[in-house]
Amino acid sequence: MKIFIDTANLDMISEINSWGILDGVTTNPSLIAKEGTDTKTRVNEIARIVDVPISAEVMAVDAEGMVKEGRELASIHPNVNVKLPMGIEALKATKVLSSEGIDVNVTLIFSAQQALLAAKAGARYVSPFVGRLDDIGMYGSEVIRQITEVFYNYGFDTEVIAASIRGPIHVLEAASAGCDIATIPYNVLQQMVSHPKTDEGIRNFIKDYEKSKK
Ligand code: G3P
Repeated sequence: MKIFIDTANLDMISEINSWGILDGVTTNPSLIAKEGTDTKTRVNEIARIVDVPISAEVMAVDAEGMVKEGRELASIHPNVNVKLPMGIEALKATKVLSSEGIDVNVTLIFSAQQALLAAKAGARYVSPFVGRLDDIGMYGSEVIRQITEVFYNYGFDTEVIAASIRGPIHVLEAASAGCDIATIPYNVLQQMVSHPKTDEGIRNFIKDYEKSKK
């Protein structure tokens, strides 16, 4: 499974890249706003520090505007893919942008039916939001499993990005479902590294080593 980081923070991106596990970066307007910058500037900066796919979201809500903004974002760097919020306008824009060779990530996906339509329109990625489904009492990981199954059944090349990941269990469930990608916040990546028994084991090895030197 590919691991993307879900952030627009340059330090976090550099740090995770230094772990040797980074396959991509996803941003969205909320993550960009948190950094006090704008999408074009930040995507440019990200493209200078890592050589992986970077998702940049449009603000337009009509197909024509999405296509225009999408072309502009894609022209920043060959690694940039254009994020479009799911809907009829996004489907129309996906068709146009993908036929021009621009990778599209259809985001705010909450059902396998939405994912199927996005894939048919030519999306390179779909981003189902696991945590936000859990927030409304649904089982987000089940939607990941359904999308993965549907795409497998029909041989779609569209990759599934498990998004709105809130903890290591979401990552495990996405990986168990055969999901292509998980886009993971920095704090969850840190949680995935740690295990109390690993820490205890390291402490004990050091203690025994120190004892053996005496
Ligand atoms: O990848 C989408 C993500 O940024 C949304 O996460 O936690 O705001 O639902 P969250």
